[in-house]
Amino acid sequence: MKLDLTSDALKTLAALPGLLLPWYRQNARSMPWRETPSPYYTWISEIMLQQTRVEAATGYFLRFIKALPTIADLAATPDEELMKLWEGLGYYSRARNLKKAAEILCREYGGELPADYRALLSLPGVGSYTAGAIASIAFELPYPAVDGNVLRVVSRVAECRANISEPAVKKEWEQAIASILPQQGVGDFNQSLMELGALVCQPNGAPRCLACPLVKVCKGFLNKTAEEFPVKAPKKERRIEVLSVFLLVADGKAALSQRGEQGLLAGLWELPNCPGKTAPDKIKGYFEKLGISAAVEPAGSAKHIFTHVEWRMEGYAVRLERPFDNPKLIWCTKNDLESRYPLPSAFKKYRKLLENML
Ligand code: ADE
Repeated sequence: MKLDLTSDALKTLAALPGLLLPWYRQNARSMPWRETPSPYYTWISEIMLQQTRVEAATGYFLRFIKALPTIADLAATPDEELMKLWEGLGYYSRARNLKKAAEILCREYGGELPADYRALLSLPGVGSYTAGAIASIAFELPYPAVDGNVLRVVSRVAECRANISEPAVKKEWEQAIASILPQQGVGDFNQSLMELGALVCQPNGAPRCLACPLVKVCKGFLNKTAEEFPVKAPKKERRIEVLSVFLLVADGKAALSQRGEQGLLAGLWELPNCPGKTAPDKIKGYFEKLGISAAVEPAGSAKHIFTHVEWRMEGYAVRLERPFDNPKLIWCTKNDLESRYPLPSAFKKYRKLLENML
């Protein structure tokens, strides 16, 4: 056993449902997927919330369910439309997995989410957290939903030094939380732990212990150790990549290219770019060789942080005398850029400049 919870800590954990449920019913934030509960809404919201804060996810969620109101609509949506709906949310494999799972649900489950934890867990993009969240929130089935917020709360409450970055530790926490689930209101209980983690037992900065319904039992509060928890592996350093990004415009159209099928931002559209910085004269020379005159201006620098990589970009606004053929490029209008081709947030700064060039 990695958690090594003392009997005292176990007693403390057992007190959580009784303290958290009334607090949650008073303090739960209003969220569109909470107001009109449905298994589909729970699923979509939980996938969005995996890497995105509630405030940021809400607008995306409303737009998503308006465009794709049912699982069958999601299964039938063309990839590019789906990516456009996801544009700016990042971690695009989440959207691809949603569609794959929707296809399975249409083929095997009549276009509905099954009220069955194992069946949920077998869907693409659904791990133990999401399966537990859907099972408990949408179907009131007694499964825990343990994410980073929950692990922080319980580590502090129990003063548990087990390293939450270890999968075995998370698994043991899932078992421990499964053993304290209330008979009634499992979905609310799971959400109360997440909500407490987001609003009170916060990740950055001091926890708001005096606003916490667990003050009387939380070992981290009582022993003033809360901020020592949770114990987790130090973050790996990000690799830094320097890129030249080209804002190519000709005849009122802008050039986009498509990324490869594997790796970061796989298959998405991007602004043409190459590794390293590029001297403006070199850019001009490149197009002169193609017989095209080019006016090149610096378009400033930008940074984008991904999980494992940081892009440091140097932009160049390039006005060309005419478009040129390149199998890797498409030329698109301002309208195409707005409504058709999804462009990752990494290019946000340049996208605005590019639109102004069109
Ligand atoms: N984070 C992820 N899912 C959540 C939920 N259902 N409620 C609050 N925060 C969340």
